[in-house]
Amino acid sequence: MTVTIRPFSPGDADAVIGLWMQAFPEYQDTSRPHRNPRLSIENKLGTQPELFFVATRGDGDESTERDKSDESGAIVGTVMAGYDGHRGWLYSLAVDPGARRLGIGTRLVQHAEAALLARGCPKLNLQVLHDKAEVLAFYASLGYRADAVVSLGKRLEP
Ligand SMILES: CC(C)(COP(=O)(O)OP(=O)(O)OC[C@H]1O[C@@H](n2cnc3c(N)ncnc32)[C@H](O)[C@@H]1OP(=O)(O)O)[C@@H](O)C(=O)NCCC(=O)NCCS
Repeated sequence: MTVTIRPFSPGDADAVIGLWMQAFPEYQDTSRPHRNPRLSIENKLGTQPELFFVATRGDGDESTERDKSDESGAIVGTVMAGYDGHRGWLYSLAVDPGARRLGIGTRLVQHAEAALLARGCPKLNLQVLHDKAEVLAFYASLGYRADAVVSLGKRLEP
């Protein structure tokens, strides 16, 4: 499958949310109402929106004549990155369940890494739930290793 990676554009929102609903079941967990995908997109568009990428089917050339039934242009992956001047972070990496193990996740991460490096970011951090063995295997395949740290968090909103 030919895949193009490009920055998110506002018209992608519904397709991205549809993908996240499949890739991240926790978005459907009503006990965690703070997980709001539309708000996540809105917030990202206010902070380093150029580091929010989507992977789409096809070569990305809108002038190319093609059969509409081939779903060219459909969103098959997402990744959000951020750089705070010290470290880079990665969030919301997701690939359409029907398009996994084709290297799309790898391309998205490599694309985000290149964008962070171009900003002078020396190291990228990310968090993976400890029971997600397949995601840990994915990141291990890209050279990521567990740091000897405990991940702490504190919710600032009431
Ligand atoms: C994690 C995810 C993004 C991987 O995307 P992908 O496009 O399937 O990954 P790739 O095809 O680039 O995989 C590259 C390598 O990672 C490893 N890998 C990927 N998925 C794996 C799995 N389910 N089990 C074991 N290893 C896996 C393999 O080594 C793979 O190479 P191979 O296919 O040649 O064996 C995708 O599974 C996903 O969207 N998961 C749900 C959302 C999620 O949990 N995101 C991470 C949040 S922290």
